[in-house]
Amino acid sequence: MLLDDNKRFRYSTMDELIADIEKFNLDIPFSHDLAPLREKIELNGKTIGNRLAIHPMEGCDSTPDGAPGELTTRRYMRYTKGKAGLIWFEATAINEKGRANDQQLFLNERTVGDFSLLINRMREEADEGGTPSPYLVLQLSHAGRFGDHKIIAIHDEKLDKLAKVEPSCPVISDRELGELESAYVNVARLAKQAGFDAVDVKSCHRYLLSELLGAREREDKFGGSYENRTRLIKEVVTKIKREVGIEVAIRLNISDFLEYPIGWGVNEKGEVDLSEPLKLVGELRDMGVRLINVTAGSPYINAYISRPADGEARKYTPPEYPLLGVERLIKLSREVQENFKDITVVATGLSWLREFAPYVASGMVEKGYAKIAGFGRMAFAYPDFAKDILHNKGMDKRKVCITCIRCAELKAHRKITGCVIRDSEIYLKPYRDIEKREGE
Ligand SMILES: Cc1cc2nc3c(=O)[nH]c(=O)nc-3n(C[C@H](O)[C@H](O)[C@H](O)COP(=O)(O)O)c2cc1C
Ligand code: SF4
Repeated sequence: MLLDDNKRFRYSTMDELIADIEKFNLDIPFSHDLAPLREKIELNGKTIGNRLAIHPMEGCDSTPDGAPGELTTRRYMRYTKGKAGLIWFEATAINEKGRANDQQLFLNERTVGDFSLLINRMREEADEGGTPSPYLVLQLSHAGRFGDHKIIAIHDEKLDKLAKVEPSCPVISDRELGELESAYVNVARLAKQAGFDAVDVKSCHRYLLSELLGAREREDKFGGSYENRTRLIKEVVTKIKREVGIEVAIRLNISDFLEYPIGWGVNEKGEVDLSEPLKLVGELRDMGVRLINVTAGSPYINAYISRPADGEARKYTPPEYPLLGVERLIKLSREVQENFKDITVVATGLSWLREFAPYVASGMVEKGYAKIAGFGRMAFAYPDFAKDILHNKGMDKRKVCITCIRCAELKAHRKITGCVIRDSEIYLKPYRDIEKREGE
């Protein structure tokens, strides 16, 4: 049984992993040939040098005004040296009230120069390393209920309790939502000025735009019908394309795996139902969006869905064997990629597979489950994983992420965030501080 007592990673060889995939008939493709990951991909007139991406991962290390700090720069320079073809910058606030906290990146007129310096350094580094410049996407974020300002699109008893939202907290009005459109457009303009190739209108993990997708009980322009719930995302995309002319990508929850009526990608019967998410992807494609980063769930509500983990850190026992979580995310990528062959789908959730992830990534590319394989926690632990996959013998077992989720704990405690295990010189001390404080 996959759901036995041992819910931790248990493979020493790829053959052992394959044996479980076959025994339990999981929809997880694999290939022993890593060549498909070396293939270039053309996207809107630009070239992505290979099929490996770094997912957005908040490092909580901006300067107080939101510019990239010293550790931010360190991370992105390490990623660049690592040679992944696509680097998807972490959640970056579109305005003060949408900022998750005062350590989150915030692109504005004061900080655009610092973003630009970082992008230039990254492009120079790629040039000097003789690799194509990575395709750079900036994730435009409004943290909604999970930010300090608690901006909510709906009330829900369970979610309110979880996000520490008071029953008296007002729901963001139609007018205020409409005003956000110009904030997105303004930041997209700054992103273009800073040198990004694309912006991501982040619509996942139950932050503001993602919460709106499930706002069936709102009774206004942005709630109720499918048309209304998807309105803001589509209006923002249209305006950015028309007024700024930078490419638009979306990191999209394909399902929240929450109950109806607040969940997106679920139906009245309580089943996962992808008809609305796929309809939205189709509409976005028709509007010129060609890059979709497929994800699901929310780290605050059902973290095992959005980031399969062993969780050796304190206070976490996985509710299922994480290989099932990996399969769930792979199937969502497949669903989107097979329905929209002209879109570039970036797959999520592969870090749990450790040094065997490249073989699954390659299988996915080979079989058309996704065009690009993205890595989140793996990039914290092993920023040059792509170089080893593409140019060496594959991933080094001693460097991989072990999905202990200590980095997520750092983020939750508003500490500088990175890999406690593989980058311990910097990140062990803040982790110890949390342990110490909790032990007092
Ligand atoms: C510490 C931490 C920070 C994250 N920051 C972001 C973020 O800024 N934007 C985002 O869309 N997802 C974020 N994620 C989610 C990851 O991008 C990714 O979806 C998740 O970790 C699963 O992929 P993986 O198995 O490769 O880690 C974050 C995850 C962690 C653990
Ligand atoms: S702390 Fe390091 S090993 Fe643990 S989940 Fe985060 S990146 Fe992976």
